[in-house]
Amino acid sequence: MPGSRPVRLSSVGPQAGQLARPGFPVRRLRRLRRTPALRRMVAETSLTVDDLVAPLFVREDIDEARPIPSLPGHAQHTLSSLVTEARRLASLGIPGLVLFGVPAAKDPTGSGAWDPHGIAQVALGELRAALGDELVLIADLCLDEYTDHGHCGVIDEHGEVDNDATLELYQLVALAQAAAGAHMVAPSGMMDGQVAAIRAVLDSEGRSDVGVLAYAAKYASALYGPFRDAVDVRITGGGDRRGYQEDIHNRREAMAEVAQDVAEGADMVMVKPALAYLDVIAEVARLVDVPVAAYHVSGEYAMVKAAAERGWLDGDALALEHLVAIKRAGAATILTYFAAEVAEILHG
Ligand code: PBG
Repeated sequence: MPGSRPVRLSSVGPQAGQLARPGFPVRRLRRLRRTPALRRMVAETSLTVDDLVAPLFVREDIDEARPIPSLPGHAQHTLSSLVTEARRLASLGIPGLVLFGVPAAKDPTGSGAWDPHGIAQVALGELRAALGDELVLIADLCLDEYTDHGHCGVIDEHGEVDNDATLELYQLVALAQAAAGAHMVAPSGMMDGQVAAIRAVLDSEGRSDVGVLAYAAKYASALYGPFRDAVDVRITGGGDRRGYQEDIHNRREAMAEVAQDVAEGADMVMVKPALAYLDVIAEVARLVDVPVAAYHVSGEYAMVKAAAERGWLDGDALALEHLVAIKRAGAATILTYFAAEVAEILHG
């Protein structure tokens, strides 16, 4: 190395080759890392296209898809660009998508979320007509995209999100999404009892075929910023979601959330975000016998994209590293904005 002075071994001790050998047998672990085929043969985790679910946004009242600056490569779709994108995902072999609607108008109860003519319902209908059962259509079930205050539920007279009043609205949303063609609904509001309420109403209205993917352990994270740009959500008065989403300091509490959601009838449980919560994913995967999903959220995607754009990191390699880590931790399904890109990489 330029500038570094050669070390004179004689001045520091015995010459190379004269050193004592270790007194125990050295395992040659590097032997299985020598060639790509060897590494592939002994890989403990394999990431496949089947593991991926793509989040998509559809916006009411626009004529052209609108790029989302903080989610490069993603857009608020029109109905027609949404269907085109969904067909592309299907042709890449991706098994599912999760849909978020962005309505033209918002109100205090978020009524657009269950309006049969609301944007998400119309979009689900078109997707189902175009794709049938080729893609699993998962409808994010929440009110925040539809409320004028930006919270995930209705506000009571003390200014707090009213848990049980919100559950009744979630039931309306679940029925509307099921009627529109969703294969699964994914309640993301972190209200207590949301899975039981939704399961009960789906069953009593003859929709026991529709599954529930529960956002079970969803943390009050700083990683949702780009998503809130994508759905035009701003919480009024500088509020936040710490009154209902989980505190980042807790792991045991996540186990309580997950156990409760499974008991309430969740078909799958999800941990969100993913990378900062690999300990939670691993413990959940040990605890439950339903499939475990993880949401690699908007901020996790944006961080990789921003660094790659500057040439600071290799974006493709890092995307794969993130998703492999999430799978290795125990998630069988990964919701990620990288779904299409990574599917392309995996197809070579
Ligand atoms: C709530 C919801 C959010 C996300 C998914 N569902 C936002 C929030 O809780 O504030 C975030 C997803 C992401 O950041 O990619 N409807």
